[in-house]
Amino acid sequence: MRENRWYREICRPMHVVHRALFFIKQGESMNDLTQLQERAIEEAKAAQSSRALYEIKMKYLGRTGEVTALLKRMKEIPAEERPAYGKQVNALRVALEELFASCEEAVKEKELAFRISQEKVDVTMPGKRVRKQKGTLHPVTRVKNQLIDIFAGMGFEIFEGPEIESEYYNFTALNTPADHPARDMQDTFYVTDEFLLRTQTSAGQIRLMEKKQPPIKMLSPGRVFRSDDDATHSPMFHQMEGLVVDKNITLCDLQGMLDEFARVMFSETSKTRLRPSYFPFTEPSVEVDVSCAACGGKGCSLCKGTGWIEVLGAGMVNRRVLENCGVDPDEYSGFAFGMGVERIAMLKYGMNNIKLLTENDTRFLEQFKD
Ligand code: PHE
Repeated sequence: MRENRWYREICRPMHVVHRALFFIKQGESMNDLTQLQERAIEEAKAAQSSRALYEIKMKYLGRTGEVTALLKRMKEIPAEERPAYGKQVNALRVALEELFASCEEAVKEKELAFRISQEKVDVTMPGKRVRKQKGTLHPVTRVKNQLIDIFAGMGFEIFEGPEIESEYYNFTALNTPADHPARDMQDTFYVTDEFLLRTQTSAGQIRLMEKKQPPIKMLSPGRVFRSDDDATHSPMFHQMEGLVVDKNITLCDLQGMLDEFARVMFSETSKTRLRPSYFPFTEPSVEVDVSCAACGGKGCSLCKGTGWIEVLGAGMVNRRVLENCGVDPDEYSGFAFGMGVERIAMLKYGMNNIKLLTENDTRFLEQFKD
């Protein structure tokens, strides 16, 4: 009941003033004000938060605070006492303002220290495991990187062409004119009448030879697109194109290089064999088989009992292709090869469905660790 408005606003301030007046008269006003000051100091020092401190400050110095009440009562003080009284109460107000300012600083420092202690990270604690294991490289990326390593080691330079290609680079310059039946070998996605999604990285052969005269040793990795979709074909896949043009390049150079490639990519004892084939841009053309790594050439389900697995197409660069690019076919000769990266990955890791490579099932992908 003592805390009601009447008490707070009238009675208590009056009481304080009367006591102040009494003490002033008695020459003991200092005592009373000192007590008030001591009380304020005690409360301010005990405040645990800036909010609590603010409330204490308001209790003394706020619009309805105790010290403000003392100042407001000034006019009630007899004129001769007023200067002394005013001086003392003002001194008290200044002292309390300083007190609160310094306490405020101390409390803020304490609060900051507390926040920092809460946010502290103990770097010596064991880390939290987010996943069972860290990410792994996709098998296609692995094989692509490995192929680049093998051929870069033989001195091949990387050259990348565009994925949207003109008919000229994808077909015509590769000795495959519009009415050529070989265009049917690759079911093509056309973007416009003239532009298409490249069906083969062989387009890169033309782009490079137009820019650079032999000697050339180019490796061109990239995505290619064909309207084709079954267990071993996908509408988008990766190819790795190779082109070597120089003086006196022969089919033997091609086979020697392919033997080395098979040995590093598959196994020490891997062999290659060339079978006659046809591509408009190579003459003669070959299909290249590698001895089956799963059975060592004896015959198994992977190689369908033959002991050999087809891995790429290749051949000697057709004279017409060299001519189309301004390279003299009487002075220079070359070989080219193109392989499917997914196909190599499937053989290397024994996969039976190309779709496994695009499903992104982490249980499958996690098997390919270092
Ligand atoms: N571009 C051919 C294909 O995609 C492969 C190939 C490349 C054949 C280079 C011979 C020479 O089937």
